[in-house]
Amino acid sequence: MLNYLNSDPEVLQIAKLEIERLQDNLELIASENFVSLAVLSAAGSVLTNKYAEGYPGKRYYGGCENVDLAEDLARERIKRIFDAEYANVQPHSGSQANMGVYMALLNPGDTILGLSLDHGGHLTHGSPVNFSGQLYRAVSYQLNKETKLLDYNLIEDMAVKEKPKLIIAGASAYSREWDYQTFREIADKVGAFLVCDMSHPAGLIAKGLLTNPLKYCDVVTSTTHKTLRGPRGGVILLGKDSENKLGIKTMKGDRLKLMSEIFDSMIMPGIQGGPLMHIIMAKAVAFGEVLNDSFEEYAKQILKNSKRLSQKLIEYGFEIISGGTDNHLMLVDLTNKGISGKKAEKALETAGITVNKNMIPFDTKSPFVTSGIRIGTPAVTTRGMKEKDMEIIAGLINSAVNNHDKEETLASIKSDVKDLCSKFPLYKELN
Ligand SMILES: Cc1ncc(COP(=O)(O)O)c(C=O)c1O
Repeated sequence: MLNYLNSDPEVLQIAKLEIERLQDNLELIASENFVSLAVLSAAGSVLTNKYAEGYPGKRYYGGCENVDLAEDLARERIKRIFDAEYANVQPHSGSQANMGVYMALLNPGDTILGLSLDHGGHLTHGSPVNFSGQLYRAVSYQLNKETKLLDYNLIEDMAVKEKPKLIIAGASAYSREWDYQTFREIADKVGAFLVCDMSHPAGLIAKGLLTNPLKYCDVVTSTTHKTLRGPRGGVILLGKDSENKLGIKTMKGDRLKLMSEIFDSMIMPGIQGGPLMHIIMAKAVAFGEVLNDSFEEYAKQILKNSKRLSQKLIEYGFEIISGGTDNHLMLVDLTNKGISGKKAEKALETAGITVNKNMIPFDTKSPFVTSGIRIGTPAVTTRGMKEKDMEIIAGLINSAVNNHDKEETLASIKSDVKDLCSKFPLYKELN
């Protein structure tokens, strides 16, 4: 595959360096994964050439008969995965999926209620530096101060007080399950739309290991590149009874057609132009992989690895927010280790372990420093690592954090990391 880059040695070198980095380091960023060669091939396919504004059967351009097949396949597969009635696979990213939904359901100035960014929420859930906090009146709910868990009484109080038009469930750094039914009750009580952004746990939900939010929410959005292990991108989904919740049943005409009008037209022409047809075909490939039985094994192993890693870290004296994890990630409070998230991230990176610094609930440090790190197991699980490897990784993290200012020790850990990684080759076909 890389042979085609021989014509551009500078770029070839960058691609080789990145493959080397992936091979030799432990990728523990919770939002990253390694796509299959099939997904990679589709993403690098000739479909990148095609302009296809519009939707299958209704394009603004000629010559779309083949890309129509790819988009139909992606839509049909993701609907089967999540038991959805409607899917839009065109959002270029998770942020654009969320933007499309907000623009479809809200007017500028309307109130939205989402999990606070410093308690694990995402920028697009109402952060003041994001469009979601600038176009809308964003208010946020926080985690319980004692348990660091979602506190449904607090969320209800907040909803009653602020009367949001839209409530968003979902997070970037929350390690526990969500009670969507209670969210539904709260949303109904105040007459709000309920949206779930399942970007992080989507791959686990796909195999029934966590609750499917489509049963309870008006709309569900997701990225496709995290636990779903697809190309970078987003999707919008509606569950089978979404018409009642959205009040669409009161409209005249064909319901699905109305849904298409609302959401499809907000993605294109509302906020995007031509869809990335190569990426849409890569989404189809990834969704096909999710539908395979082998993906269930993979998703179960992510959970086993995550639990074992968090248990081992606890044994080493690390504090895991909320005491553990129900999904693919954990948030580590480093306060008792006397090191900031920023310093830990740097030391771990020097030791060949990639994580990201992350604010912890009620953090006293800034987002650029933070008191914590976020760790996830999807990528190392894709490499084939199992529980015993998680025990080794916990030991390596412990050594790196305890010796964060000792260059020699970090270099020796890096060599141990490389040894471990060499047992799990990655993209060797590309070299
Ligand atoms: C919960 C959640 N929603 C949305 C996004 C945004 O996705 P993207 O980076 O594709 O815009 C992320 C990304 O990390 C996320 O964690």
